[in-house]
Amino acid sequence: MNHNVPQRERDFFDRRWQATRAVPVQEPLAIPGVELAGKRVLICSCGSGVEPVQAAIAGAHVWAFDISSVAVQKALDVARFNGQTVRAAVMDFHALGFPDACFDAIYGSSILHHVDCAAAGRELRRCLKPGGVAFFRENSDRNVILRLARRVMFGSPGERQRNRWLWFRRTGTSDEYPLTEKEIAVLGEIFEGRLERVYEDFMFVRLISLFGWDRPVVSSVTEAVDALTVRICPWLMRYSFAQGVRVTKAFVGTASRAPTIASGGVSSISAASTSMDPGKS
Ligand SMILES: C[S@@+](CC[C@H](N)C(=O)[O-])C[C@H]1O[C@@H](n2cnc3c(N)ncnc32)[C@H](O)[C@@H]1O
Repeated sequence: MNHNVPQRERDFFDRRWQATRAVPVQEPLAIPGVELAGKRVLICSCGSGVEPVQAAIAGAHVWAFDISSVAVQKALDVARFNGQTVRAAVMDFHALGFPDACFDAIYGSSILHHVDCAAAGRELRRCLKPGGVAFFRENSDRNVILRLARRVMFGSPGERQRNRWLWFRRTGTSDEYPLTEKEIAVLGEIFEGRLERVYEDFMFVRLISLFGWDRPVVSSVTEAVDALTVRICPWLMRYSFAQGVRVTKAFVGTASRAPTIASGGVSSISAASTSMDPGKS
């Protein structure tokens, strides 16, 4: 990966999260097949700050990180606003400041396609306890129609890219690209084949309203078309733009340790509620 990418991501998301406010959160975080209550859970790239609070509502002891210090502050603000406790620190996904085998579960959404999956995958495996699960809600590059449409409308990273094409707009960073099959294969190798794809929803025609005509009537019609399509042809589900990626760490003898922050390479924001000391969890 180009070394300027994390810096560009930080600058882009510092600006984006600056513009958001603390919001009330009521929904608990749900990870298919994982009970979160009482577990040590790490939220990767906490962004708007909603997901750490959702994990706390689900009863987890929550740690979170993001490369954007604005996002980390936002996570603390949203937690305080909702009366929940989370610990958050600025970290790069490619080099996490936690000890080995300290989390029961790790969660992220819309993040794997922003990072180098080889480096991030190794960090996930290192930080998970044996038998621990990491689950990511992501986009997908598998659908050839969507791949071509994206290329024609906006171009690809490394080329000249457009942010608008007719009514459609590209909303992400200049480096991001939907998660590729190659990146999934890299994660699968790191977890020795313990990788599952999970499809919770069929997202295809609905992208017209997400990236173009953002009108209630358009989203209702396109959602209905997606639901009908996958009911008629369930095998199309694997071509959904939305996918879950679940990896499990094998049960091998490493004793688990409590999450702390290693010194160096990590800047944490200091406030009582941001302590990474597991004695205060
Ligand atoms: C699309 S946002 C999703 C955030 C969050 N899941 C949400 O929904 O609010 C991607 C996030 O990844 C963070 N990010 C990008 N590159 C990162 C990296 N190398 N390490 C840690 N976080 C990173 C960004 O700062 C941003 O907050």
